[in-house]
Amino acid sequence: MLIRIQKILKQKDEGSKMKVQGWIRTRRDTGSFSFLEVNDGSCLANLQVIANPELANYQQEISRLTAGCSVEVEGTLQKSPAKGQDVELVAEEVQVLGWADPETYPLQKKRHSFEFLRSMSHLRPRTNALGAVTRVRSHLSFGVHRFFQERDFVQIHTPIITTSDCEGAGEMFQVSAAGEKTPFFGRQAGLTVSGQLQAEVYAQALGQVYTFGPTFRAENSNTSRHLAEFWMIEPEMAFCDLACDIELATDMLKYLLHDVLTACSDDLALFDKFIEKGLLKKLQTVIDNDFVHIPYTNAVEELSAVSGKFEYPVQWGIDLQSEHERYLTEEIYKCPVIVTDYPASIKPFYMRLSDDEKTVAAMDILVPGIGEIVGGSQREERYDILVQRMVEAGIEPDEYEWYLDLRRYGSVPHAGFGLGFERLVQFVTGMANIREVISFPRTPGYAPC
Ligand code: 4AD
Repeated sequence: MLIRIQKILKQKDEGSKMKVQGWIRTRRDTGSFSFLEVNDGSCLANLQVIANPELANYQQEISRLTAGCSVEVEGTLQKSPAKGQDVELVAEEVQVLGWADPETYPLQKKRHSFEFLRSMSHLRPRTNALGAVTRVRSHLSFGVHRFFQERDFVQIHTPIITTSDCEGAGEMFQVSAAGEKTPFFGRQAGLTVSGQLQAEVYAQALGQVYTFGPTFRAENSNTSRHLAEFWMIEPEMAFCDLACDIELATDMLKYLLHDVLTACSDDLALFDKFIEKGLLKKLQTVIDNDFVHIPYTNAVEELSAVSGKFEYPVQWGIDLQSEHERYLTEEIYKCPVIVTDYPASIKPFYMRLSDDEKTVAAMDILVPGIGEIVGGSQREERYDILVQRMVEAGIEPDEYEWYLDLRRYGSVPHAGFGLGFERLVQFVTGMANIREVISFPRTPGYAPC
C-alpha cells in the first residue's frame, strides 16, 4: 500500500520516516539544494521534497529531474521553515523510476487550454484541474450509492446490451457480432439508452431500486452538454407518485452537494477561483433554498412573454429547447426549477397520462448553467392506456409483452427519474464543457482511445 500525500499533509507526522511515490511537477535549485514538488494525485497539493547535494545521485539524476518524471523518495518529514506548506520531506534517497523528456513532454508549467488537454486524454489527468474533477467525480459517485443505501434502495445492474429502446427516440447504437450473418441475439439489439424499463421490473418486485451505469445515445449533438456515452443514475420506486419522485430527486441533489462541499473543499476552492467565480456560493444557495415548481403550461406563458429573446419560438406543445430551459432557471427564477406536466405528445409512451388527457405526470429539473439535469415521471400503470400510448407512439406492443405483464399482474403506481451524472459533475465543478468531466469523452467523430 502506498502512503498517499493527502494523508501525509493531513497528519503532519513530523519526525517520521516515510517513502512516497509520485510525479515531479517542478524542480527548483537554490544553489545549496533542490526543491522537488511531488504530486501523487491523491490531492491537489504537492509534497515539497528537499534534496541535498550529498545524495549519491544528486548530480547525475536529481539535478536533471523535470516535470512528469516519476520518483520514489525516502526521507523524514519535518516542519517547513517557509510559508506555503506546513511540512516538507527531507530526502535520504531519491530513486528515479521513469524519465520524461522535457523536449516532448506536453504538460509544462504554464496553464493549458481545455481544448488542448482534450487532445491528450491519456495525459490530462496529471493536471490540477482534471485531477480535481476526477476526485470530485469519484466522491460524487460514492455519495450516490451511499444516498440510496441509507434509504434502503436495492442496486440493480441493468443490461448494457438491450433489445428495447426505452426513450423511443431511435437513438440506439446497434450491436452485432463481427461478420455476423444472422443476428447474434436472434433479433436486433443495441446499447442501452436508459436502464429504466428493466429497473421498473425490479421495482415491482423489490419496491425501491436504483441503477447507475453507462448509457449510450447515438444523437448527433455536438454541444457542451451532450455525450454519446454518459452515466445515468436511475431510481425507480413502487407505490410512489410524481410528488414523491420530485421529493427524492430534490433530496438527492441537496445531499450530494452538501456532501461534496465538505469532503472536496480544496478541489472545489480551485474551481471557485479559476473556473467559475462564486461556485461555492451557488452550491450553498441550492442546498439552502427550495426549488421552484412550475407546470409546463405556466412555463410556456412566462417564456412567451419574452419570446423575442429566443432563436426557437415558444408555444404550447413544443419541446423546450436548452435556451428556454436556461432562461427559466438563469434569468427568471435564478435557482433550480422543476417543470412538471408536459404535453403527452412530446414525451415517451411510459409516462402516466393525466386526467386532462393532454399532459403526462412528468418532471424535469433545470439548473443554472446547464439546463436539464434530471428527467423523470410517474409511470403509466394502467394496462389499456399503456397499450394505447404505445400504439400512438408507433411501438409494437407484442415486442413489450414482458413490460405489459407488469401491468397485468399486481400493477402498482410507480415513478422514477434519470439524473445525468456528467451534468451533475459539470454543475458541481463549474466546467463549461461536459467533455472535461468524463475521463474519455465520446462524441460524434471523437473516440481517441
Ligand atoms: O431525460 P432522459 O432522456 O430520461 C431518461 O432516459 C429516462 N428513462 C430516465 C428515467 O426516468 N429513469 O435523460 C435523463 C438525464 C437528462 O436529464 C440528462 O441529465 C442526462 O440524462 N442526459 C445526458 N447527459 C449527457 N449526454 C447526453 N446525450 C444526455 N442525454 C440525457
